[in-house]
Order: sequence, then C-alpha cells, then structure tokens
Amino acid sequence: MACAIALTAVSLFLSSVFSSPIDTSGNVRRDSVPTGYESPPYYPAPPGGWVSDWAPAYAKAYEVVSNMTLAEKVNMTTGTGIFMGPCVGQTGSALRFGIPNLCLMDSPLGIRNTDHNTAFPAGITVGATFDKELMYARGVALGEEARGKGVNVLMGPMVGPIGRKPRGGRNWEGFGADPTLQAIGGAQTIKGMQSTGVIATLKHFIGNEQEMYRMTSVIQRGYSSNIDDRTLHELYLWPFAEGVRAGVGSVMMAYNDVNGSACSQNSKLINGILKDELGFQGFVMTDWLTQIGGVSSALAGLDMAMPGDGPIPLFGDSYWGSELSRAVLNGTVPVDRLNDMVTRIVATWYKFGQDKDFPLPNFSSNTDAATGLLYPGAVFSPIGVVNQFVDVQGDHKVVARAIARDAITLLKNEDNALPLKRNDSLKIFGTDAGTNPDGINSCADKGCDKGVLTMGWGSGTSKLPYLNTPQEAIANASSNAEFFVTDSFPSNVNANPEDIAIVFINADSGENYITVEGNYGDRSAAGLYAWHNGDDLVKAAAAKFSKVVVVVHTVGPIILENWIDLPSVKSVVFAHLPGQEAGDSLVDVLFGDYSPSGHLPYTIPRSEDQYPSSVSLINQPFGQIQDTFTEGLYIDYRHFLHANLTPRYPFGHGLSYTTFNITEATISVVIPLQSEYPPTRPPKGPTPTYNNVIPPASEVAWPENFDRIWRYIYPYLDNPAAATSTAPYPYPTGYTTVPQPAPRAGGAEGGNPALWDVAFSVRVKVSNTGSRPGRAVAQLYVELPSSLGLDTPRLQLRQFEKTKTLAPGESEVLTMELTRKDLSVWDVVVQDWKAPLNGQGVKVWIGESVADLRVVCEVGRECRNI
Ligand SMILES: *[C@@H]1O[C@H](CO)[C@@H](O)[C@H](O)[C@H]1NC(C)=O
Ligand SMILES: *[C@@H]1O[C@H](CO)[C@@H](O)[C@H](O)[C@H]1NC(C)=O
Ligand SMILES: *[C@@H]1O[C@H](CO)[C@@H](O)[C@H](O)[C@H]1NC(C)=O
Ligand SMILES: *[C@@H]1O[C@H](CO)[C@@H](O)[C@H](O)[C@H]1NC(C)=O
Ligand SMILES: *[C@@H]1O[C@H](CO)[C@@H](O)[C@H](O)[C@H]1NC(C)=O
Ligand SMILES: *[C@@H]1O[C@H](CO)[C@@H](O)[C@H](O)[C@H]1NC(C)=O
Ligand SMILES: *[C@@H]1O[C@H](CO)[C@@H](O)[C@H](O)[C@H]1NC(C)=O
Ligand SMILES: *[C@@H]1O[C@H](CO)[C@@H](O)[C@H](O)[C@H]1NC(C)=O
Repeated sequence: MACAIALTAVSLFLSSVFSSPIDTSGNVRRDSVPTGYESPPYYPAPPGGWVSDWAPAYAKAYEVVSNMTLAEKVNMTTGTGIFMGPCVGQTGSALRFGIPNLCLMDSPLGIRNTDHNTAFPAGITVGATFDKELMYARGVALGEEARGKGVNVLMGPMVGPIGRKPRGGRNWEGFGADPTLQAIGGAQTIKGMQSTGVIATLKHFIGNEQEMYRMTSVIQRGYSSNIDDRTLHELYLWPFAEGVRAGVGSVMMAYNDVNGSACSQNSKLINGILKDELGFQGFVMTDWLTQIGGVSSALAGLDMAMPGDGPIPLFGDSYWGSELSRAVLNGTVPVDRLNDMVTRIVATWYKFGQDKDFPLPNFSSNTDAATGLLYPGAVFSPIGVVNQFVDVQGDHKVVARAIARDAITLLKNEDNALPLKRNDSLKIFGTDAGTNPDGINSCADKGCDKGVLTMGWGSGTSKLPYLNTPQEAIANASSNAEFFVTDSFPSNVNANPEDIAIVFINADSGENYITVEGNYGDRSAAGLYAWHNGDDLVKAAAAKFSKVVVVVHTVGPIILENWIDLPSVKSVVFAHLPGQEAGDSLVDVLFGDYSPSGHLPYTIPRSEDQYPSSVSLINQPFGQIQDTFTEGLYIDYRHFLHANLTPRYPFGHGLSYTTFNITEATISVVIPLQSEYPPTRPPKGPTPTYNNVIPPASEVAWPENFDRIWRYIYPYLDNPAAATSTAPYPYPTGYTTVPQPAPRAGGAEGGNPALWDVAFSVRVKVSNTGSRPGRAVAQLYVELPSSLGLDTPRLQLRQFEKTKTLAPGESEVLTMELTRKDLSVWDVVVQDWKAPLNGQGVKVWIGESVADLRVVCEVGRECRNI
C-alpha cells in the first residue's frame, strides 16, 4: 500500500506546491469576474451559541475556553500538518481539559484508507433508493464505524456538487441532481451519523461543480463560480440549509471562488449566509490545503484550518498555528474572534458527547502495517503501534446490501425479460461483471476502472473489505451461466435461441488529483458514454442474441442512444455504485427475489447537447475561469421541462416487476399561509461573553524541555514578546466590528423556524395492482403560481415517500408534508422567502417520475387522478 500513500502524498504535494501566495501579488493572470457578480463584505463573524438546542454544549465549552491559554486555543483551530498523525487531518490538543488531537477522516461512504470497515454504496446510490430510513440507517452505520476507529469528525455527507454539470467528477458522492433529494439524503445521513456521537461534515460549501481547475496554482487561480442570489438560495444552498437544520456539527468550504472571492475566506458566504442567515452553530473548516490567507480567513469566519499547512505543505509552516498566535498578540485578529472559533469547536465536541468515552484513533490512514512512523510527514518520527486492525463492520453489510438492492433502477423491461429464472441459459459479458484482476484495493483511492465499478475515485472512497462481484453472485444463483469477462465481444460464442445475454458496462469519474484513462476527475475524455467501448459490446451482443439485458454501473447519466432501441435490448438496469455488495444485491433483483424499486436521481438525456452549454466543463489552462451559472435554476429536469425537451429517461423514472396505482389523494391545510413572508424571526439568544483582553505573550512561548517534532505545526513563537504591536492593520474593505443586524430570513438552525411550518399535508393511497410484491415511491412535485411574479421551474420535487413491500393487492397510505419553504421563492430584494398567500394557485403533483404524474391537487379543491 506504500504506493497508495505515495501517490496521494505526491499529488497533494504537487497541487499544493503550485498553490502559492504569488497569485495575490498580481502575478497570476485573472479574467475579471463578470459585471454584476461580486461578493460583498460581511463582518464581523457572528459568534455561535445563540440557539437553545446548543446552549448546554456552549455552557460547557465556556468553562473550558475561558480557562484556556492562547496556545491551547490556537491548538484547537489548526491542524498539526499533513501526515502528522494517524488521520487525514488532526487538530492540536488541550489535554489539560481532556481534549485530545481531534481526528478528521474521509469519506462519505466509508472510513478511507483503513481496514475491517464497510465500503457502503455511494451517495448517488443512496439517493436512488428514495428511502429515508435507509438513508438514516447508513448514516448510523457510518457513524458507528467512525467511532469504532476513533474518528471524531467524519467528512460527509456531500451535497455539493449537486450535479449541475453531468460530466462533473464528484456528483456521485452526493444524492442526485435535485436540491430536495440532496437535502433529505444529507439530513438523514447527518442525523444517523451524529446519533452515534460522531461529528458529521457537510461539504463542499459552495458552487464546486467541476473538478478541473478547482484549485489555485502558480499559473492559475481556482475557478470562480458566479452565482446569483436566487439561484444560490433555491438550488445550491437548499441542501446546506436542511443539513444545518438537522444540526450538523461542521461544514467544509469548497476549493473554488464564488463571485471572485475564495470560499475559504468569503465573508459573505461564511459570516453572512452560513453563520447569520442559516444560524450555523458548529465550526467551519477548509478543504485540504485550500487556505490562502491567515488573517483574512479568520475575519471571514473560518474556524479550523486543515490539515494546517501553509502554502507549501510538509514544511511546518501554517497560515495559522504560530501565525495565528502572532495575529492575536499584535491585535490584528480580535480575541473575541479567536474565542468564538475555539468555542464553536469545543461546543461541538461536547454537543456530541465526545468528552465521554470517545475512543482515540486505533488505526493509521498512512500505512497498513501494525507499526510505523507516528508522524510520517516529520521523516524523523518516533515509531510505534499505528494499526490495531479493529473490526468495525458489525452487521453493516446488511444495510449496505439493502441500499444497493433498493437503488437498482429498472429503466426498460420489454416482454418481461426480467426477472430471470434460475435455470435460464445465461451468457454474461463485460469486465464490469468481475473483479479487479490486480486486487480489489490495488489502485490508490480507487483511481482505476477495473472490474465491477463499486464507487468513483478520489478522497470520497474507502477500501473494500471484500468484494462480492456480479460474476460470483450470478454463478452462485444460476444453474446455467457462462461468463465472458472481457470488454471485446468474443468470437467463439454460440448463441442459442433461448439464451439471454447480460452485458455489464460502466462509466467512472472522480476527484481531480487522479487522472484515470485521460479523465481529469471530471468525465473530460469519456464524455457521457460508457467506458471501454461498452456501447460496442452491447451492440455486438444485441446482434447475436435475441434477448439482451444491460447492467450499468455508473457515476451519473450516460447516453444510451447507440443501442437502447435495438429490438433485442429488452432490459436496462442501472445499479449505480453499489459498494462491496455489488453481486448479491443485483442478483436479488435480477432473479426476482425482490422487485426493483430504485428511481433515477438525475435525468438521462438523448444527447449531451440537450443540456444548456453553460453546464459544459470549462477547460481553460490560463487565467481564472469564470464559470457563470447563467442557466440559473434550470438544471437537470428543471431545464428539460423549461426547454420543452424530452429526455431518454426522466428524473425519478424506475420500473418495477409489478405496477402501482396512486389514488384517494387528499390535501389539507395544517398551518395556513396567512402572510406571504414568514412571521418575524425570533431574536438571537445570548452568546458567551469572555474577557477579550489580549493575553500575555508568554502563553505562546515554547514550553520548557519540549520534545518538538520536526515540521509539526505548533502554536508557539520563538520570541513571543516581539509579536505584540500597536501598528494598524490594513483591514479588508467593509471590515467592521459592529455586529450586523440579524438577517430577517434567519432565526434558528437552517433559517427562520417558521419556514418549516407545515402548510399542507398530502395523503395518497398507493396500491400494488400487479402480480408480484414490490415497493413504490410516491414523488411529490410542486408547481408554483405565476402570481409570485418570478420565472420558476414548472415542477420541483419537494417530498417523497416509499412504501414498504406491498403484496399484490395490498396498499399503504403515505403522508407527505409541505412546509412554507417548500412553497416559497427567494425574494432577492426583501431578502426573504415569499410564498403565495394561503397557498393560492399552488398545484401539487404526485407520481412515479417527473414525467409520470398520476394525481394533481389544487389548494382549495379536491385532488383528482389524471
Ligand atoms: C454573487 O453576485 C450575485 C450577482 O450580483 C449576487 O446576487 C450574489 O448575492 C453574490 N453572491 C455572493 C455569495 O456574494
Ligand atoms: C474555569 O473558569 C471558571 C470561570 O469561568 C472558574 O469558575 C473555574 O474554576 C475554572 N476552572 C478551571 C478548571 O480552571
Ligand atoms: C498543542 O498540541 C500539541 C499536539 O498537537 C501538543 O503537543 C501541545 O502540548 C499542545 N499545547 C498545549 C498548550 O496544550
Ligand atoms: C480502539 O478501538 C477500540 C474499540 O473501539 C477502543 O476500545 C480503543 O479505546 C480504541 N483506541 C485505542 C487507542 O486503543
Ligand atoms: C499581525 O500578525 C499577522 C500574522 O503574522 C500578520 O499577518 C499581520 O500583518 C500582523 N499585524 C500587524 C499590524 O503587524
Ligand atoms: C427451467 O425449469 C422449468 C421448470 O422449473 C422448465 O419448465 C423449463 O423448461 C426450464 N428451462 C430450461 C431452459 O431448462
Ligand atoms: C450463494 O447462494 C446462497 C443461496 O442462494 C446464499 O445463501 C449465499 O449467500 C450465496 N453466496 C454468495 C457468495 O453469493
Ligand atoms: C387504478 O386507478 C384508476 C383510477 O385512476 C382506476 O381507473 C383503475 O381501475 C385502477 N386500477 C386498478 C388495477 O385498481
């Protein structure tokens, strides 16, 4: 595994060597941000602690923070340096108060770079289940595994990128190309994870919709996502708001700029939107090695720098660490800002009970060996036991398999070609049915596409503890299967009339620091086509066999047009990214033990040019890319409806082996929308008040006889007395220490609590009208009236519910609630959410996809079947 570590180290190192401060001195060519897009200053940082739910944790934190020295405080805020501890990042410690180095680890689908852990299905797979309980259960399982390994902060869920760009490399880490699906997937994951005492991290905040050119380098500044206020609120911010409302403990800032201002130090985004408007009470961290300024990021509201390194990693330099100590001693960073940073971190630690019996890390993400360097980044490091190989899997394979199975999305099934019978004569094609011949974990961070595609590549991965392949599972389930695990159609295949060909193809993508088969994270080379000539394999099989079933493992939409209408292509199954249980979960469905019940978490187009050109990848190696979100709210199905285009398969589509009826719909008013704007927000509660006098410089002197680790990041200064200063500091334009008036759209975690008043309750009866058991998903789309005076997407998913397994003839009543926010648009002038008075003119559509609507309810009238 050494090569895996080396690869990660080198790629991170290279990307960071090039992320130099030179750009700030004007040496980097930078295209100007388009007129009108700017990120206004928003200072000072609003302190945390004013939400009652967090008050006990903040009270405990107050006792600690008021007694901390400057060195202890700085320790909480700054990582110890890359490869300076067992985890992918760790803070300094404050052992006087029982606070250890807090361990931060990837990923959203499993504990990265360790052993005896579960490799769960990826976010996109979870989204395709449309199952809130499974979303929550996976969160719990992830939390249990993190806790078992001693991980304080697990870096997931991911709700940005949302999938604006179909070729975007990391869309698969999230739950689908819709804000409500992302929001529910994210919030359920957070609640599950945090129920185990592990702190969840909601990321990446915000506008990180392509991988290429996301980071700042010597020749180029990371791209700028230029997003207007309404689009930000109604699309990209939506899942973050729901995650904050779910109580998430930490938020990670994105690599890119928004409106020309780097997210890691964008005061409007952190101070204004996240902490004031959304009332976020936890702590805000950087993405890895993305900090570009010390004082600037502190003032803009950043609370934790990860992994702590400055412009060149592994040299022991930091924008914070000792420099933050200096910036406080010289009066530049106000003491109350530092106190707020530390209080947010310590309060979060208390909120999730990590002061009681929380294990220390018992693994190392740097090596597989039992013993090794404790601080590999230090080179001259003490050696010790690093891996205890603690098995944290429990029975989590059960939930992993249930998700992989219930996500399986049947797009087409002519002549009831599926399900298969155990004695059907099967011929199976494609390397995607098999294993990676080099070993299931042979490519670092899954940076290759060999064998069945279980997840994309990059930091959002984990090692597979084992891999149950489709090949093994089909061989086990079938009495009559022959395998041709190759991507070129074999010449020696005999086709008998009763044969059924099953063709496995896939499409991969991942994070930018690894290039796979010419794809720079994003699907830059492969486009939206199957990899490894998958289309040719399907066409060859379709030419020879009269019944072909295509199984697709994919990170997102692929173009199916080369073969989808061929008469012998009877069935198409999207199995998404199933994780370790790839085989059995598929067999569960292929052979009819379960009916498929997954639904598409994105649209499948007929061609790539059906999308607006603004969502193409931008490939421009010089200057700062200006990625302006000119399509506004019209991404994915919102765009297809708006442009009146028929996709190949609509968002939400997914067939079953049975059929369902949706009947007896009713809509009832719960809390009437008596005003267009929500009632006045509650005032902020109190926040901790500290003695904000600059501490004595001696608090950051090196302790006597200190056993210092080379190049490790510490809070100490060689000559602390020299740091004190009364010189003025050139603060950014708009900087002030006078608190801003509380935003009217705020008031609690997520925003004004009245936004979550339930306005309407919708009930439907879902009946199994076919002849096999199965599960249905009722998808609720809202159509807002033109009386709101804004151009608004015609249909927007705002709720969904999934039935239990219904036997033929059986039915279940599902209830879906619509909040005030669900029926609102963001009023950029008033800076608040505006709903139609009494919900007048709102239409509520319920169906099995955005293009298969069965019932419509209009406020004040009976609902009717269509
Ligand atoms: C970005 O600029 C747009 C256009 O002026 C504005 O509506 C939006 O609020 C800005 N967003 C941020 C985060 O500064
Ligand atoms: C911490 O500070 C509080 C006052 O804020 C004081 O009452 C308490 O004794 C101190 N605790 C320790 C451990 O120093
Ligand atoms: C700061 O953290 C480091 C470990 O990361 C520790 O060695 C040092 O003692 C801590 N300093 C204080 C003042 O607690
Ligand atoms: C390692 O994990 C085990 C089991 O979760 C736990 O008991 C132990 O405290 C952990 N930490 C260390 C340092 O052993
Ligand atoms: C205070 O220290 C910080 C951190 O080194 C530095 O950026 C800032 O310029 C200093 N302020 C003054 C007024 O010297
Ligand atoms: C499969 O088994 C069924 C009986 O269970 C039989 O009718 C059918 O002919 C068999 N099919 C094949 C291809 O052997
Ligand atoms: C093989 O099939 C049996 C019975 O269907 C099942 O219990 C077992 O788990 C399967 N094993 C694998 C590796 O799929
Ligand atoms: C399904 O519902 C429709 C009403 O929308 C009804 O006409 C039809 O008979 C129902 N089908 C079954 C099998 O119940």
